[in-house]
Amino acid sequence: MSVWFITGASRGLGRELAAAALEAGEQVIAAVRDTGAALEALPEAGDALLAVQLDVTDEQQAEKAVAAGVERFGQIDVLVNNAGDPQRERRRWAESGLLGDNGGTLIVTHGTDRVGSVSWRKVQTGPGVFNWAIGIGLAPEFRGRGHGSAAQRLVACYLFANTQVNRVEATTEITNLAEQRALEKAGFTREGVLRGTAFRQGRWHDQVIFSVLRDEIRLDDCAAADGVV
Ligand SMILES: CC(C)(COP(=O)(O)OP(=O)(O)OC[C@H]1O[C@@H](n2cnc3c(N)ncnc32)[C@H](O)[C@@H]1OP(=O)(O)O)[C@@H](O)C(=O)NCCC(=O)NCCS
Repeated sequence: MSVWFITGASRGLGRELAAAALEAGEQVIAAVRDTGAALEALPEAGDALLAVQLDVTDEQQAEKAVAAGVERFGQIDVLVNNAGDPQRERRRWAESGLLGDNGGTLIVTHGTDRVGSVSWRKVQTGPGVFNWAIGIGLAPEFRGRGHGSAAQRLVACYLFANTQVNRVEATTEITNLAEQRALEKAGFTREGVLRGTAFRQGRWHDQVIFSVLRDEIRLDDCAAADGVV
């Protein structure tokens, strides 16, 4: 038996998932804005269901909801974050322009086309020491044209030029050959396999980790490809 934490579980896909999990004998924490509605939507659940109040934009409420779930069932095995917060990126944009001390996001452009985005987040490696981990996603019609490798090289340049880190890293699933090739073309080195680190489609997958170090990139060369990010 496993414990599922499902946001937005009182209607739509969230309710269907909660009902299916309960029917399969799992325990469900339904994190919803209206706990009464969740109990009404899943009337047969009995003790296997805990409804907790959660507005997904409220971080403190999220912590309380998780704590209540763990107190009742002892653990959480599966998280289904089904309740979206459509205004989240808009709010982040208004607050910080998507650039902050712990990470950021830039748009990848080609001419006037918006090709995709690159982002980075802090990975703490010791007291006062951190790396950046980058991620990328391009619109399907722009893939396979060199934008992914150019953008990842440029974001590494940007991070070395604007912060003091020594290392920029990237991970991708072992089956994602396009990203692995794009990272190699961007000057990253393949370091090894991280076993069972990604959970997708109901099972764990291996990832590959790549990195580039400060002294492996010449910042002078970065300007040549300027304009992609
Ligand atoms: C992964 C991604 C960022 C790569 O960007 P891209 O612009 O498509 O990559 P590039 O064109 O710079 O380089 C891709 C390389 O992979 C190669 N490639 C593509 N599919 C491949 C495959 N199935 N097997 C082997 N090589 C492959 C291409 O031939 C190219 O290499 P080449 O220039 O030596 O021929 C982009 O495809 C994407 O956004 N994919 C979806 C999101 C994603 O996977 N993000 C990263 C995961 S964390």
